[in-house]
Amino acid sequence: MNATVNTGDIEAAAAVLRGGGLVALPTETVYGLAADAENPAAVARVFQVKGRPPTHPLIVHIGSADKLGEWVEDVPDAARVLAERFWPGPLTLVLRRGSRVPLEATGGLETVAVRVPDHPVALALLSAFGGGVAAPSANRFGSVSPTTADHVRAELGDAVDFILDGGPCDVGVESTIVDVSGQEVSVLRPGGVTREDLESALGRPLAVHSSSDVRVPGQHPSHYAPNARVVLVEPDRLLAEVELAREQGHQVGVFLPHSVDRDQVKAHAVVELPASMTAYARGLYGYLRELDQQGCDLIIASLPQEQELGLAIANRLRRAAGPR
Ligand code: TXA
Ligand code: MG
Repeated sequence: MNATVNTGDIEAAAAVLRGGGLVALPTETVYGLAADAENPAAVARVFQVKGRPPTHPLIVHIGSADKLGEWVEDVPDAARVLAERFWPGPLTLVLRRGSRVPLEATGGLETVAVRVPDHPVALALLSAFGGGVAAPSANRFGSVSPTTADHVRAELGDAVDFILDGGPCDVGVESTIVDVSGQEVSVLRPGGVTREDLESALGRPLAVHSSSDVRVPGQHPSHYAPNARVVLVEPDRLLAEVELAREQGHQVGVFLPHSVDRDQVKAHAVVELPASMTAYARGLYGYLRELDQQGCDLIIASLPQEQELGLAIANRLRRAAGPR
């Protein structure tokens, strides 16, 4: 099924879930920290291990779109259209909570976030387990999401009962969260499915409310943050700001656009950004971790154009740069 995961591992991980334990699992976006969504004690452990406030809701991951009706009160037309078009995939739908979902998983909300991940290991686990798993990103609250099993080991280690190593995540930023629970369909968090693709599937423009909903912790300013301080500058100021920070004695890490020559910049560490937004998204969290590891205390970057995947990348960079 995968270079590093065999069916024995899947069975073992499913048994851990049945026993109320925690499994780190690969998805196409980032690694998740999974618990049986219907077991309130197991779900409580997820919050504890992440250090996440219990009022912040989790995403319930299910094995196929046709099971959606089991987890929610009703499936509005927009949800049906989006699920059909984008599942399995990096899209999370917020719907009215079904009675099967404990309030512990939704942080007390009467809505629930659901998605079908597009990763063979995650789908195999969900199939072997049979139920749904509540899974936030497998990192401590507020820090950078993991895109490899090694990231999970380094950050959560022994706190997790079983780690499934499915290799590096393909998308690299979290799912797009779309609220379809009310009259207006809106984007709560930009992510792996682009706004443009959502709009073309629905045949109408969508509102993006990614900062107004305080119940979405991914939207708190100091989220997705590395240890180094992240500073965002205008593209034409990038080299000057790097030079200035270096003169001030900072160990500067730079997100260098592919259009700028590497030789033009003197810094402690440099990430040469790929030209494609797909590759940038895939690498983003790894770059932040890498610059931390190289001992940078300051990371200087510019925002990409906020269209297609650039919208999600810019959103995460802004959160990373937020007040600490
Ligand atoms: O790609 C992803 O979505 C990854 C992988 C593991 O699936 N998961 C992820 O989970 O990013 P987490 O917990 O880091 O972020 C979940 C987001 C939070 O911002 C949370 O507030 C929001 O989903 N959320 C969950 N339930 C919600 C609800 N009922 N209403 C609004 N937002 C909700
Ligand atoms: Mg997260």
